[in-house]
Amino acid sequence: MAILVSGGAGYIGSHTCIELLNAGYDVVVADNYYNASPVVLDRVKQITGKDFRFYNADMTKHEDVEKIFAECPDIDAVIQFAAYKAVGESVSKPIEYYYNNLNCTLVILDVMRRHNCHNFVFSSSATVYGAPASVPIPEDFPVGKPTTPYGPTKAITDVCKADPTLNVALLRYFNPIGAHKSGLIGEDPNGIPNNLMPYIAKVAIGKLEKVHVFGNDYPTPDGTGVRDYIHVVDLARGHVCAIKKLETKCGLFICNLGTGHGYSVLDVIHAFEKACGKQLPYVIDPRRPGDIAECYADTPNAKKGLGWEAAYDNEEKCADSWNWQQKNPDGYHTVK
Ligand code: UFG
Repeated sequence: MAILVSGGAGYIGSHTCIELLNAGYDVVVADNYYNASPVVLDRVKQITGKDFRFYNADMTKHEDVEKIFAECPDIDAVIQFAAYKAVGESVSKPIEYYYNNLNCTLVILDVMRRHNCHNFVFSSSATVYGAPASVPIPEDFPVGKPTTPYGPTKAITDVCKADPTLNVALLRYFNPIGAHKSGLIGEDPNGIPNNLMPYIAKVAIGKLEKVHVFGNDYPTPDGTGVRDYIHVVDLARGHVCAIKKLETKCGLFICNLGTGHGYSVLDVIHAFEKACGKQLPYVIDPRRPGDIAECYADTPNAKKGLGWEAAYDNEEKCADSWNWQQKNPDGYHTVK
């Protein structure tokens, strides 16, 4: 039995492939390298010492997905990561985001049902809660009013409820950071990073001048935004737990993958300073439109339903991000 990892060359996808391979699962990776590099898959092989099948596929195209299932009848479950993920960009490109993200998911689900594949893990996001009424956010919080077009592409509960033969794990991620211990794989955003951690790492390595802190007038302890930063390997392990959960024929299962702790932007900058051993310049800028003050998880479903809890502490998360950044100052384009 094999697991199709759609978007498996991406940041979270590649770390998940490693954990699946290490847990003894056969993996089929599909990716069109829209926001990923072919180098990643060589590194996954190097880390695990294991080989796997790969398809250069656009998951919005029926024929591409159909070909994978026709050639790999042993696919028993799909983990669907393939999506555009720049939340800010989704505001200026709503059609592209709806088209790509929803079609990837819907085409996969359609082809799955035609091939009698009933196990689906979906890469969802804390963004579905919108601006939460309070924190921490447990899984039974109402799915809120989406603040960007990215949000609705991550809320597919209805699709899953409609088919009783489906076992679905909707995993709502908080803020993934960190990298594999080896420093061989990590986050490699195109251009100037949108997210805080890769931006800080680029300042630390000298590729960007200073960190821009988006607002220090939020109702939080130091005035800067508070988030739940989860190590990407913890997140990846959550997917292995989700696959095991689906093996129990659980129907629809929803959980948050976060640490349960909130850290401010300044906390993260200072933790990174410890990891890299130098002071990082920063300035306070105005708030970024669409940002909320605080967002961190409560994870009772993940604990009870998956037996999963985040294990990495803040120090290790920053150390691993820094290790990756140092070894790959230009990401996967770094010439070795
Ligand atoms: N921030 C800065 N400067 C930056 C970038 C970010 O101060 O250069 C701040 C933001 O204002 C926010 C915090 O750092 O307070 C985290 O911002 P990120 O852009 O790293 O992450 P977000 O919380 O905005 O969004 C992330 C993912 C989304 C996901 C969401 C769920 O990018 O895909 O977490 O919580 F939906």
